[in-house]
Amino acid sequence: GSKKLWGGRFAEATAGSVEAFTASIHYDSRLYKYDIAGSKAHATMLASQGILSKEELQAIVDGLTSIQQDIEAGTFEFRRELEDIHMNIEKALVDRIGPAGAKLHSARSRNDQIALDFKMYLRDQCDILAELLDGIRRAFVLLARKYIGHVMPGYTHLQRAQPVQIAHHMLAYFEMFGRDKERILDCRKRLNLSPLGCAAMAGTGLPIDREQVAEALGFAGVTANSMDTSGDRDFAIEFVSACTLIQLHLSRLSEELVLWSSSEFRFVEIADKFCTGSSIMPQKKNPDIPELIRGKSGRVTGSLMSLITLVKGLPLTYNRDLQEDKEPVFDTVDTVTASVSIMAELLENLKFRTEVMEEATKTGFITATDLADYLVLKDVPFREAHGIVGRAVAYCLGKGCELDQLTMEEMKKFSPIIEEDVFEVLTVDGSVNSRISTGGTGLARVEEALEKAEKLMGIS
Ligand code: ARG
Repeated sequence: GSKKLWGGRFAEATAGSVEAFTASIHYDSRLYKYDIAGSKAHATMLASQGILSKEELQAIVDGLTSIQQDIEAGTFEFRRELEDIHMNIEKALVDRIGPAGAKLHSARSRNDQIALDFKMYLRDQCDILAELLDGIRRAFVLLARKYIGHVMPGYTHLQRAQPVQIAHHMLAYFEMFGRDKERILDCRKRLNLSPLGCAAMAGTGLPIDREQVAEALGFAGVTANSMDTSGDRDFAIEFVSACTLIQLHLSRLSEELVLWSSSEFRFVEIADKFCTGSSIMPQKKNPDIPELIRGKSGRVTGSLMSLITLVKGLPLTYNRDLQEDKEPVFDTVDTVTASVSIMAELLENLKFRTEVMEEATKTGFITATDLADYLVLKDVPFREAHGIVGRAVAYCLGKGCELDQLTMEEMKKFSPIIEEDVFEVLTVDGSVNSRISTGGTGLARVEEALEKAEKLMGIS
């Protein structure tokens, strides 16, 4: 017969190949802390409901504590034939304390148990990520403060578009990672309902108190429908989806850092300790960290696809397919937390070459829009102004000069309305600082936004 905890109805032992194929202990052992905390809370509730005696409860709690100590000391032996973390711990408990251990699983199934472990794990990961996101947001605020007043080209289509404050560019990322943090906290809020007590999927006839367990484990309440609960993995998908956006934001930043550190741009200097060299080309200093982060966005996106596809065709309620939810989530956690924290470190060691960036704003007709706006303020309809400036740019291209190098006489040929005051408008600083619309790059606005960000991050 079968020696499994569930082996009663089986006539023969499980095939070795099946044990190997179905086991998840090699990755779900990561959940041991939550599994044990959940079991303690469950046992405590069973005792208050009269299902366990005081002595049995004490034996269970002590047994679980000793198991946790052994796991943390690295002396606990995880066994593949016990499939998963739940049965590894339960079997060890029964071995250690005898019959009381065998009562622990009353009014519980591995289906609500895994949902509990997974939610508690992700709840902690949400808190860790929120903290790490604050770290990277802080780094952007510090960079913005350091470089406020310095300009760089802003790009669209990777073509020089309009001059902006470096600080404005940094605060753009501050916003992006701020939304990421909100998403993570929102995900945490929604997942923070206890699944325990839904049992396999129909609930239980035993007199349990789900609210007591939920409260003991720090949940805001209990889930409403036992069938929904045992098949629900929305929370994992939401979490990985929020992580995908984080990794995408990191990837876009990485792309900029790779470009900016190239000899073609020379906008930034990434600290030596954050770069690596080439085994053949002695001159190389490569931006591997941003490249790897950019590359890792592929695996995070892939994990999101895995999870979505995993759940897509599943009938209610629990199906063993759902065991495949853990690895993509764990990999996402490892990848995203490592990426956010190393990027924050890199940013703390990043230097901008402000002279090069400023120089780059001086060519490429970067203040052409300002000339059009200048005409608009003199009552020229914008479309007409656009045409006038376009012709002036074409003229400059032919002549090989910039707009601010035209003489007054040449200017007048494009529009008689243009006066001496145009040259102030064509300066980079004039251009940047005129953009004081809400959310714009004008110094006054950026200073305002920066002060707000500093206050939010507790930097004074
Ligand atoms: N290891 C399983 C998982 O990760 C736990 C739940 C198993 N339930 C079951 N009925 N086989 O989903």
